[in-house]
Amino acid sequence: MKHLVTGGAGFIGSNYIFYLLKKYPNDEIVCLDKLTYAGNLSTLESVLDLPNFKFVKGDICDRDLVYKLVEEEMPDVIVNFAAESHVDRSIEDPSLFLNTNIVGTSVLMDAARKYGIKRFHQVSTDEVYGDLPLDRPDLLFHEDTPLHTSSPYSSSKAGADLLVMAYHRTFGLPVTISRCSNNYGPYQFPEKLIPLMIAKALNDEKLPVYGDGANVRDWLYVEDHCEAIDLICRKGKVGEVYNVGGHNERNNLTIVKLILKELGKSEDLITFVVDRKGHDRRYAIDPTKIHNELGWLPKTSFENGIKETIKWYLDNKDWWKTIMSGEYQNYYQKMYLDKGRV
Ligand code: NAD
Ligand code: TYD
Repeated sequence: MKHLVTGGAGFIGSNYIFYLLKKYPNDEIVCLDKLTYAGNLSTLESVLDLPNFKFVKGDICDRDLVYKLVEEEMPDVIVNFAAESHVDRSIEDPSLFLNTNIVGTSVLMDAARKYGIKRFHQVSTDEVYGDLPLDRPDLLFHEDTPLHTSSPYSSSKAGADLLVMAYHRTFGLPVTISRCSNNYGPYQFPEKLIPLMIAKALNDEKLPVYGDGANVRDWLYVEDHCEAIDLICRKGKVGEVYNVGGHNERNNLTIVKLILKELGKSEDLITFVVDRKGHDRRYAIDPTKIHNELGWLPKTSFENGIKETIKWYLDNKDWWKTIMSGEYQNYYQKMYLDKGRV
């Protein structure tokens, strides 16, 4: 099978590439990534020279580039991870989110239509459903929960989801959508809660907890998410949405304290800071559909996953330290252009 993976130099996309290459060593993968601040080509170092892997630096909004690439490669499936993904950044500058997350998705789907690609999979988020109250643990997001977004990020992802469903209905494009809860694991950019707190704790810096720290997220180990996407691409029903989550709800303060405990650091490092604007209180996914239809269940418990993740950040300090210093942005020039890999 040949996969076009967009956004593969980011957190989940890179884990997806590693997952595919391990499980299907003969599959072919083309990765299209713009290498924004969130894309780190050094993450893909171990696969760059494989004969069945190809990296292309480019923007999913660039119609000429996307059409040319799809025509040349003719993948069996396009899996779209490429996105602006950080809520706080979307509050600072919404326009970038509309462009990449909505316009970019439509360009990819236009290419899929034009060249008759057999499957377009959109990686979406549970944030499209808005939030749930803290005092109603019985409420969960189902696939038919109305879209009700809070941030420019989630609104742009919801806009893309609506377009994906519209392309299916109007043009018959064979699409699937997965809506996942918060991921954690190796290679997550240290601006998101878990890697940021690990990095700050290791540097003995203050850990900024927004508001009262009572906001709840439903945490899923990234490899479990990758397995779900792969299953949906191969066996999921065209035109369907699948929620992906692990019944793993934790509030932010609990997570931060757990990280400090694992690292042997003092809770005095916790600092409560001004709350995020429009901050969603609780996300919680009902994954019954993907379990019943495709047999998917998460394999990694939070207790093991968080220990693995902390260990990974301890063992790979260079990875996140070069990000925090900005050095990683020279990697493409140094390791790719200079070495003639393109
Ligand atoms: P990320 O920010 O780590 O990576 C995004 C990648 O997309 C980067 O490599 C970046 O360079 C690339 N990119 C950005 N704009 C691009 C463009 N215009 N053209 C080509 N490439 C571009 O994001 P992530 O956390 O890996 O998330 C991947 C996808 O999963 C996103 O669509 C996100 O909405 C969704 N998602 C994430 C989570 C989570 O917890 N991280 C949860 C649910 C859904
Ligand atoms: P984040 O990792 O940005 O994911 P999302 O907002 O998409 O769920 O944030 C997870 C939770 O952690 C969210 O409730 C906001 C909170 N948070 C903090 O308290 N401090 C921080 O520095 C960050 C980045 C997030």
